[in-house]
Amino acid sequence: MKKTSKIYLPGHRGLVGSALYRKLQQEGYSHLLVRSHTELDLTRQKQVESFFEKEQPEYIFLAAAKVGGISANNTYPADFIYQNLAIQTNIIHCAYQFDVKKLLFLGSSCIYPKLAPQPLKEEYLLSGKLEPTNEPYAISKITGIKMCQAYNRQYGTSFISLMPTNLFGPNDNYHSEDSHVMAALIKKFHQAKTEQKPSVEIWGTGTPRREFLFVEDLADACLFLIEKYTDSEIINVGVGEDITIKELALLIKEIIGYKGDTYFNPDKPDGTPQKLLDVSKIKNLGWSAKTSLKRGIEITYQHYLKS
Ligand SMILES: NC(=O)c1ccc[n+]([C@@H]2O[C@H](COP(=O)([O-])OP(=O)(O)OC[C@H]3O[C@@H](n4cnc5c(N)ncnc54)[C@H](OP(=O)(O)O)[C@@H]3O)[C@@H](O)[C@H]2O)c1
Repeated sequence: MKKTSKIYLPGHRGLVGSALYRKLQQEGYSHLLVRSHTELDLTRQKQVESFFEKEQPEYIFLAAAKVGGISANNTYPADFIYQNLAIQTNIIHCAYQFDVKKLLFLGSSCIYPKLAPQPLKEEYLLSGKLEPTNEPYAISKITGIKMCQAYNRQYGTSFISLMPTNLFGPNDNYHSEDSHVMAALIKKFHQAKTEQKPSVEIWGTGTPRREFLFVEDLADACLFLIEKYTDSEIINVGVGEDITIKELALLIKEIIGYKGDTYFNPDKPDGTPQKLLDVSKIKNLGWSAKTSLKRGIEITYQHYLKS
């Protein structure tokens, strides 16, 4: 990828897309193509085709998607499966039709089988039943991976698929229904602090184990892999370490400086008991995450306060 290559960033205002945008700018890539959701609705095939015809992108980091936490996935399963299938189908097919040199697709660690052995190796994909709360989302994402592989096999395209773990960082989604655990906890503890609430309730038992990657490390991995990775097989991107939701909550509480109590509500769903990626494949290629969890949360909280 040259510094002058035409690089299209669908979803450039989201958590991942905005981190990629900042990273590519920092690295001196000068021809970045971006459109907001209102300017270009990626579920509309005609609009996507017209965009490709006019702009002829050479590289694509596909970071546009319908993304959300347990509650949003449970409430809007049709939106999750329809919008993700439509967005990725339109972009992947156009990438083939308009001779895009390389496309990077984002899967997710939450599309591995619910009870797969830990840490999750790439070969566990499709080896068992999915987590029911986000099955429509997972099926759409798995379809995206399979499309990339099928186009590579039939048409000789160069489409790669990454499996990032849970992400967090600047521009995360803090709307209650859509948010992931990290954003939800930052918002909860911040509100409890400013409103001087005596306690904070946290969904679930606090025992599930999760891994968190700072989104700027993911952006770094995306640039690394678009240069170095050519295989159709998926590749995990994570830190290779996990913590319990309880430990995470207490760390966020400390960073925010909330002095009240914290209690866990076991009547609310926990989701998958553990989600930890085996990151030996990407480590063997020479990449590993650089930002500590504490430092990442501090940066994220500062950004939350500013925005
Ligand atoms: N967040 C995580 O923890 C995580 C973990 C693993 C993998 N991933 C993957 O990373 C990718 C990006 O996730 P994210 O967390 O960055 O999501 P995000 O913050 O919600 O960003 C998604 C972006 O896509 C845009 N978008 C959605 N529908 C669109 C449409 N129809 N037309 C045009 N733009 C549209 C959104 O714009 P609007 O907001 O204007 O709709 C938003 O800018 C996804 O593929 C996700 O599966 C995320």
